[in-house]
Amino acid sequence: MTEAAAEQDVVDVLTSDHHEVMDLLQQIKATTDPAERRDLADTVISELVRHSVAEEMFVYPAMRKHLPDGDEAVEHDTKEHKQLEVTMKKLEAVDAGDADFGLLLGRLEEILVDHVADEERDQFPQLRAAIPRTELVEMAGKVEAAKKVAPTRPHPLAPNNQVFHKLVGPGVGLVDRLRDALTGRNS
Ligand SMILES: [Fe+2]
Ligand SMILES: [Fe+2]
Repeated sequence: MTEAAAEQDVVDVLTSDHHEVMDLLQQIKATTDPAERRDLADTVISELVRHSVAEEMFVYPAMRKHLPDGDEAVEHDTKEHKQLEVTMKKLEAVDAGDADFGLLLGRLEEILVDHVADEERDQFPQLRAAIPRTELVEMAGKVEAAKKVAPTRPHPLAPNNQVFHKLVGPGVGLVDRLRDALTGRNS
């Protein structure tokens, strides 16, 4: 195996993001402690905003260019990112002990399952078929770099991470502040 073949391409990186967020959602369901649910939910929000922004910056433009129905696929996917963000903003503002917290998590998972299936089943294989591997590996590097721009990366640090809460702040505004930091808005 050559060195390049062992490297992750952009589809590997995005797919493992998907799995990570799905795992976190299962962890939230498995605990009843409100503080832990809050921390895990904030980590989900942080991971998902980074992932979505990185896709929008580097992957969706490639989909528009290379996929037969790329424009349509990107418009559909971007709409779903918006739905995820609206749900995450509500989730930020809701107390982890509140019944709405569980409902919003369920809604988030529902949108995500559909969105992830579209990407992994249809769009990612098409990207791999249309784009040379060296370019896909390059895109992986760009996605990883973009995700690191925001002030901190809470995962895999332990929940209740004081640094995370000091830098990004808990609760209301997390989605917007992360998106601003990642896209360079307000800077
Ligand atoms: Fe996406
Ligand atoms: Fe994705």
